[in-house]
Amino acid sequence: MNDLTPTREQREAALEGMGCKRKRVEDIRFTQGKGNYVDDVKLPGMLHGDFVRSPHPHARVKKIDDSEALKVPGVLAVITAETLKTVNLAWMPTLAGDVQMVLADGKVLFQNQEVAFVVATDRYAADDGINKVIVEYEPLPPLVDPFKSMDKDAPVLREDLVGKTSGAHGPRKHDNHIFEWTVGDKELTDAAFNKAEVKIKEMISYHRTHPSPLETCQCVCSFDKIKGELTIYGTFQAPHVIRTVVALIAKLPEQKIHVIAPDIGGGFGNKVGAYPGYICAAVASIVTGKPVKWVEDRIENLTATSFARDYHMTTEIAATRDGKVTGLRVHVLADHGAFDACADPSKWPAGFFNIVTGSYDFPTAHLAVDGVYTNKAPGGVAYRCSFRVTEAAYCIERAMDILAQKLKMDPAELRLKNFIRPEQFPYHSALGWEYDSGDYHSAMRKMMETTGYAALRKEQAEKREAFKRGETREVMGLGISFFTEIVGAGPSKNCDILGIAMFDSCEIRMHPTGAGIARMGTKSQGQGHETTWAQIIATEIGIPADNIMVEEGNTDTAPYGLGTYGSRSTPVAGAAIAMAARKIKAKAQMIAAYRLEVHEDDLEFDIDGFRVKGLPEKFMSMKDICWAAYNSVPPGMEPGLEAVSYYDPPNMTYPFGAYLCVMDIDVDTGVYKVRRFYALDDCGTRINPMIIEGQVHGGLTEAFAIAMGQEIRYDEVGNVVTGSFMDFFMPTAVETPHWETDFTVTPSPHHPIGAKGVGESPNVGGVPAFSNAVNDAFSFLGSTHIQMPHDFWRNWKAAKDLGAVA
Ligand code: CDP
Repeated sequence: MNDLTPTREQREAALEGMGCKRKRVEDIRFTQGKGNYVDDVKLPGMLHGDFVRSPHPHARVKKIDDSEALKVPGVLAVITAETLKTVNLAWMPTLAGDVQMVLADGKVLFQNQEVAFVVATDRYAADDGINKVIVEYEPLPPLVDPFKSMDKDAPVLREDLVGKTSGAHGPRKHDNHIFEWTVGDKELTDAAFNKAEVKIKEMISYHRTHPSPLETCQCVCSFDKIKGELTIYGTFQAPHVIRTVVALIAKLPEQKIHVIAPDIGGGFGNKVGAYPGYICAAVASIVTGKPVKWVEDRIENLTATSFARDYHMTTEIAATRDGKVTGLRVHVLADHGAFDACADPSKWPAGFFNIVTGSYDFPTAHLAVDGVYTNKAPGGVAYRCSFRVTEAAYCIERAMDILAQKLKMDPAELRLKNFIRPEQFPYHSALGWEYDSGDYHSAMRKMMETTGYAALRKEQAEKREAFKRGETREVMGLGISFFTEIVGAGPSKNCDILGIAMFDSCEIRMHPTGAGIARMGTKSQGQGHETTWAQIIATEIGIPADNIMVEEGNTDTAPYGLGTYGSRSTPVAGAAIAMAARKIKAKAQMIAAYRLEVHEDDLEFDIDGFRVKGLPEKFMSMKDICWAAYNSVPPGMEPGLEAVSYYDPPNMTYPFGAYLCVMDIDVDTGVYKVRRFYALDDCGTRINPMIIEGQVHGGLTEAFAIAMGQEIRYDEVGNVVTGSFMDFFMPTAVETPHWETDFTVTPSPHHPIGAKGVGESPNVGGVPAFSNAVNDAFSFLGSTHIQMPHDFWRNWKAAKDLGAVA
């Protein structure tokens, strides 16, 4: 070795592999305005479509008169349900086994429902056209309160389902009932409650909110009449699934459908489902033979395409007097709006809500979920969440604080007492999951030490005394959240979408010069996949990450995958990448053995190539092996160096975290200040610490928004009153608190590189931390549970109701 020979550290650093804070390669185009989004797609002769929407939440559609609209210059067609019926597309299947009107068919069931689609030569003409379509409605009584949906005299919403005693998920109890889902042992749980020394019961609501990505949902559909091929550019988190769904419902051969998801400006679950806009644009393109673009505006996005949460969770815990939990009972009333369009794996009507036992060793638990229809927009998407995990974490983390309050125990101490212990992993929960790995006590203690938790509690006690003496008008809250996520849907044995198992895929092709391309079944919406996927390959095969191009979102070139949502990309596709890379490495080893004239077993992998064991100077770099793969492979071996992997994970991964929020609230104004927010995340092996930090910052900001004000609210007659960013809380850098991040590493034992997902964790853990902080601040005034969102007005109202404000 001479002075110029790179050291091991230098060789490793040159790869920019796993563990490296590699800068995001996609940001070169994003920060210079060079991204290519759906709205950048401009095809020759392209037309534009826009919707006529219902002002009523519940009404009969008596007549649609398009004659004046068709006179508007540029307007070419007005599509209604009657038009769609001619191609059997007036209704479409939902991911949850229900059906949904594409355009109002006889009735409207929520405000801003799509009634007619106006197609014009430009967007302005389409907008002028929609204002000229005259729709005659006969208003019907609206059903807004989910708690009244199964009343005897409740208006029946879904006339198409009247008399149907069962739906996609079993028996229905009422015309407005969708399903009842139960899990756990009822008898054992009842017995635990019967002999409980201490019990708590609280109705904990997680309000309706919305993912609101920067870029709304949109598409361009282009039908080639000569070839009979349909190309769809769209904001799709799962492009392959969209292709299959289009093939099934439009009855087009799947090979003639090309789905392209270009750059996407945020998804957060909003871009998983299929929306009427996609169907209408496709039909309009097939009818006109021209490309048709549909771009949702902000109000449409907030009020119509999807919602998240809207779970009302009556929660009971049984415990011993010294704080050991003995049973959990939860009943959820789930408001699904007008159609059950929840984006969950097929067999899970309430997603993975049965992770509601959280991080605690509950000997028994029982859960029942009732889904109901109301006159609200459909959706139920996993807003930065793995299928209702966020609701579950909020439910249990609030309930544990309520129990701690009842027991007069510190909430941290209560949690430490009930955590699943490290030696219990793999842990089988009372509601059916197998947690892969965890060390909750270490994470919690690290959080407590780093934040100076004991000193903060002391300060809080002093402040409370000062408040009682009238020396301050501020109350201080400490909000703990210790969450366990469940991400990586999922094992094919229990997770599918419309019958397609939820595996994921990667295809790697190495080129002769030591460069390569990786094509994926996932689709980044800002998570930085182009950066991190190359890092996995770099470490696995010893080729610099900079030499690997990552491509996603084109169904013609990418292997079939189930897409990106629910933090499934790293647990599933990340594993597929490692497995494909290992196939490449295995072939590379055979080539190296042949070229170095030794047996394969005499070789060892050494950072960026293979070395003969015991003969360090006999080395062949991966770069040279790539070249050799195209000109001197062993006799009988096929040339080339490429591999594909379709990975069906054996289990989910279970990331976790310990969060603490320190908040001061002025009781006279309700104004809060987030003094500190500390977030410790454990996502197993960390691929890119900088990207993880970015994911945590983004997720916490969304958690802050949701807990402290972001809400889709309806008035008592069904009008959406938070339909724009004037009313819907969208925090900017001004309101957003400072985030302190930290980590522990507990690898997943079944994932090829030990990684767990992370993207959803901060939202899952963040919301209860904020809400617990507010509740903790007010608890000494006698409150047990204050519902979210905790905006200034509600904080002031809480203080007033508790007698702290005159
Ligand atoms: O499915 P989605 O991409 O939204 O979520 P994820 O799998 O949690 O990954 C989000 C981003 O964080 C990706 O760029 C991952 O590669 C990165 N990540 C990481 O660097 N290390 C982990 N252990 C998990 C995720």
